[in-house]
Amino acid sequence: MVEFRRKNRLNPDRKNDHRRSSHKLQGDKCLTLRIEKMVQGGDGFVRLENGHVWFVAGALPGELCKVRPTFRKKDFIKGRVVEILEPSPDRVKPRCPLYGKCGGCSLQHLASDKQAEYLEKVERENFRRLAHAELPEDFVIHTGNAWGYRNRARVVYHKTPDGRAVFGFRGEESNNVVPFEHCPVLTDALNDFLRGPAASLLACNSDASHRNLNGPSDSKRNLSRPRDMDVNLFDNGKGEISFYYPGMRKSEFDAHAVSHVEIAGRKIEADASVFFQSNLGLLPELVDAVRKAVDDGLASGKATNDWLIDLFSGVGFFACILQDKFKKITTVEREEGCLKHAKANLSVSAAARTAESRSPVIENVSAPAEDWLLENVVDVPATLIVDPPRTGLPKDALEAIVKSSVNRLIYVSCDPVTLARDYAKFAEAGFSLSHAEGFAFYPQTPHLEMMFVLSR
Ligand SMILES: C[S@@+](CC[C@H](N)C(=O)[O-])C[C@H]1O[C@@H](n2cnc3c(N)ncnc32)[C@H](O)[C@@H]1O
Repeated sequence: MVEFRRKNRLNPDRKNDHRRSSHKLQGDKCLTLRIEKMVQGGDGFVRLENGHVWFVAGALPGELCKVRPTFRKKDFIKGRVVEILEPSPDRVKPRCPLYGKCGGCSLQHLASDKQAEYLEKVERENFRRLAHAELPEDFVIHTGNAWGYRNRARVVYHKTPDGRAVFGFRGEESNNVVPFEHCPVLTDALNDFLRGPAASLLACNSDASHRNLNGPSDSKRNLSRPRDMDVNLFDNGKGEISFYYPGMRKSEFDAHAVSHVEIAGRKIEADASVFFQSNLGLLPELVDAVRKAVDDGLASGKATNDWLIDLFSGVGFFACILQDKFKKITTVEREEGCLKHAKANLSVSAAARTAESRSPVIENVSAPAEDWLLENVVDVPATLIVDPPRTGLPKDALEAIVKSSVNRLIYVSCDPVTLARDYAKFAEAGFSLSHAEGFAFYPQTPHLEMMFVLSR
């Protein structure tokens, strides 16, 4: 059992205790370790004298912990804290009863007001290790609400054998559903929706889709006990909830999945089946940072207002908020479901323009960014924004950008590891890091949003 003994504070003189205690395997195969630092992903890290490297879930830097190994590989061992012998002063009791069970919010044992500080250290080291470069001195992480911030989620709708509907998340170590009554990082509106109308709305709408999903031969068995269904939920910031599940009928999709969000004075259309940013509270700060980066680029002469290219554009979010600055705009997104929203988002705002300002030429493309880059020559110093998924930029896309006339790009990333990897390749090709900012979009988790400005 994990103990939270706060009176036995960290003693710096005992920093190297793990070197004495590390080889003492206990009867229960637990090891006592002094944690050196936090690493990417939020685990505690320690390297022992015998060369063994441990990644310890639930441990904080400086803590002395009993750790049970959970997973071994040739060059590292993963473990989980079973008892904290000397807690960090920054340790707190996790607020949620599903901590360690539901697969999310694995950083709840760290005080909310310390999380950005720890993540900054992790990212500085991560960048040094992976990109062999330093994050700028003035790198800051913008923070917002630590709880109740998440306006977008995927939950599992589960019907118990006695016909009750429950909502849950997929478990941390299995695909099992972990039911919850209240999730403290979701917005109040999402929690209210799940406690209130969600079950009956889904029950009315989803039976036919269950039959479709499992095929006709399965329909009888399925009617008596439908299998679990993943449901995407979205709160547009005004308490209006949209939702989507696979197999949804078109009429239901139109009625329940489509939403409108107001950000930075723009009304943006999206639906719950496609990507949209999940921290609306902090999003205006990212918008301001991107706008400033664009303005700085235009002022520097390294980028022109002839062409804005928004790659991995989703529903055209960045293009929409920036469109009044450009003569031509291209959005490129792989998910076909985004295309109609991107068209609406750019044309609606264009219609709202004043008579004096000329509308930009708009091109909304549904294609992989790497294919579009290979087929289209970017031979002007266009303003380029890339916001790829966790996997980072596809190799072909990165190479095409390097060969193009783009001299300055804004790289928005939800994965600092692939960002550092891609930065290293851009640096080899002559780009340098002009500016970097972090955004704590996912408090209670080790994830971080970053914005880099690269130029050559
Ligand atoms: C992190 S989201 C960013 C979306 C958008 N910029 C926004 O802020 O709403 C990444 C987007 O890239 C899309 N995507 C993933 N791989 C892609 C690819 N190879 N080419 C184009 N789009 C891709 C995803 O469907 C997703 O919409």
